[in-house]
Amino acid sequence: MLQECFVEVFNKEPEVIYFSPGRINLIGEHIDYNGGLVFPCPITLGTYAAVARRDDKTVRCYSKNFEDLGIIEFNLDHLDYDKKDNWTNYAKGVAKFLLEKYPEINSGFDAVVYGNIPNGSGLSSSASLELLIIQIFKSLFNLPITEVEAALLGKKVENEYIGVNSGIMDQFAISLGKKDKAILLDCNSLDFTYIPVDMPTTKIVIMNTNKRRELADSKYNERRAECESALAKLQSKVNAKNLCEIDLADLKANKDLLTENEYKRACHAITENIRTKASAEAFKNNDLVEFGKLLNASHKSLKEDYEVTGIELDTLVAAAQEQPGTLGARMTGAGFGGCSLAIVENDKIEAFVENVGKAYLDKIGYAADFYIAKIGDGPTKVEDTKNII
Ligand code: GLA
Repeated sequence: MLQECFVEVFNKEPEVIYFSPGRINLIGEHIDYNGGLVFPCPITLGTYAAVARRDDKTVRCYSKNFEDLGIIEFNLDHLDYDKKDNWTNYAKGVAKFLLEKYPEINSGFDAVVYGNIPNGSGLSSSASLELLIIQIFKSLFNLPITEVEAALLGKKVENEYIGVNSGIMDQFAISLGKKDKAILLDCNSLDFTYIPVDMPTTKIVIMNTNKRRELADSKYNERRAECESALAKLQSKVNAKNLCEIDLADLKANKDLLTENEYKRACHAITENIRTKASAEAFKNNDLVEFGKLLNASHKSLKEDYEVTGIELDTLVAAAQEQPGTLGARMTGAGFGGCSLAIVENDKIEAFVENVGKAYLDKIGYAADFYIAKIGDGPTKVEDTKNII
């Protein structure tokens, strides 16, 4: 139990427990930073913190996921990035940017953190942690931060403090998460709508390749750079602020401005945006068969045009798509490893897990993991602490 661990580590009782979810993205991949539409939802896997306020400016953090690191300590007057502070750099980054805006933050806290998002699975454990720390400061100091501001702050930590040039999707999906709802977010304007996820006869199955995606961060920045250079070249002929605004016909007409890779990346961004729009419509009309086809098309585009899948994700998704009762399947998140998802009829899930698991093990040589996705709330105080660990 988290509380007991807190007592063991810090010799006192925690005052409060918070939870912040992870996320899956139903569709709209690699287009948040291209001004496109994304369609993510928070899940009930996430990160917990047991917390007690301190009277001085020290923050002490202990992770049940990295027990060998012990307590990592920092001071609110010294918040520069330091590699040796390991995972607590996320907390330091949040503290640094919050303090710039809210100088009334004048004391630290002790925290035991525990996450049940599989490590490196691409279900946004880092954004989950960022929003968890924001929630702690927000509650301890009654900070008037809106959910959108919290999402933007989390992204700033990721981009400017940690150095990953990610878009707004993960932090937004987590910060504004609502139980049983997906969020259709326009990443250009930040306009969004909640769309109920009501699937009585099917479930979303998350399939984890167990191939960590951490090393992919440099590739992530590379894809972003390719999109930026494609846009800059296209802007000499087309009036557009971002890639997703450009018509497919205009892209094709200007193909010779671009390198082959730039053309393929732009093709993905533009078609994925169209698929996301169509998916939201299909969802509203309860047409999961159509939605499934869009998922399959999304994976094909991420594999062939955006080139962010790899043998592990492709093997899982191909095996999933072949199973009776599968409506569609695709990778989710940044790619290169991590997770994929499939929509599967309820009574076929058992056979699905067995068959896809076997196909994956046979080809890749180690096992995949399967979870049924449950869509939960955004960051929140935990009242019922019985079942945390
Ligand atoms: C990661 C990033 C997001 C988004 C996805 C790909 O999760 O953090 O901003 O770009 O990859 O859709």
